[in-house]
Amino acid sequence: MRDEVAVTGAEGFIGSHLVEVLARRGYRVRAMVLYNMHSSRGWLDELPADVLDQVDVVFGDVRDPASVRQVVEGVAVVYHLAALGSVPYSYRAPRSFVDTNTIGTLHVLEAVRACGTPRLVHTSTSETYGTARSVPISEAHPLQAQSPYAASKVAADKLAESYYLSFGTPVVTLRPFNTFGPRQSARAVIPAIIIQLAAGNRPRARRAGSRPGLHLRQRHHPGVPGPG
Ligand SMILES: NC(=O)c1ccc[n+]([C@@H]2O[C@H](COP(=O)([O-])OP(=O)(O)OC[C@H]3O[C@@H](n4cnc5c(N)ncnc54)[C@H](O)[C@@H]3O)[C@@H](O)[C@H]2O)c1
Repeated sequence: MRDEVAVTGAEGFIGSHLVEVLARRGYRVRAMVLYNMHSSRGWLDELPADVLDQVDVVFGDVRDPASVRQVVEGVAVVYHLAALGSVPYSYRAPRSFVDTNTIGTLHVLEAVRACGTPRLVHTSTSETYGTARSVPISEAHPLQAQSPYAASKVAADKLAESYYLSFGTPVVTLRPFNTFGPRQSARAVIPAIIIQLAAGNRPRARRAGSRPGLHLRQRHHPGVPGPG
C-alpha cells in the first residue's frame, strides 16, 4: 500500500511527534517500537485515539534484520529514527551504539534496497560534526567523531551514502541539532539547562553555546518530507 509509511523509533521523543503528524496528514503509519516485556508503547500511548486509529504498532528491534524487514515491506517511505542517543552512555557501552545505530541502519538500508522502497529518511545528528571549527556549520564541515555515539552515526551516514552511490538507494540523511519540546527526557541538554536556571543555578553544559536548538513543534512539522 503506497499511502502507508513506516517510522522506526516511533515511541521516542521525536518519533512520536512524527507519527502524530503523519497520521494527522492521513497516512497509515507502521510504527516500530523496541520490543519489551511490558508491551510498552512509550510516548505513543499519549497520542489521542483518533491518531492511534491510523497507527499499526510493530514490536521489533533494528538489530534484527527480520524484524526490520517486517516494518519496511510495502511502505512508501521509511523514517528511520531508532537509535541509542545518549553521548554519556556511549562512553560506557560503545558496542551497543554500534549495534543499534550503525548495524541497525545497515539493516534498514538492506531492507529498503530489497523491498524497492521509494524513499528512506535517515536521521543522523549534528554531533557528527563535533565541536564547530567554523560557524554556521555547513554540510561541508569535516566530520569529527568526538564520542562513540557520534562515531556510530558517522558510520551509519557513510553506509547510507554508500548505498546511494553504489545502489542508487533513495536515502536522505538529516542531521538535527539539539531538539527540544514536549515529551523530551529531562536529561537532554536544553531541559537540563532550563532546570538548572529554574533552580537558580548557573547552567553547566558541554558545548551548549555553540549549537542552535530546534523546537519540535515550531520547526519540524512543516518540514516533514512526505511520500511521493
Ligand atoms: N533529540 C535530539 O536532540 C536529537 C538531536 C539530533 C539527532 N537526534 C536523532 O533523532 C533520532 C530520535 O531521537 P530522540 O531524541 O527521539 O530519541 P529517543 O531516545 O526518544 O528515541 C529513540 C527511540 O529508538 C528506540 N530504539 C532504541 N534502540 C532500538 C532498537 N534496537 N530497535 C528499535 N528501536 C530502538 C528507543 O526505544 C526510542 O524510542 C535519533 O536517531 C537521534 O540520534 C536526536
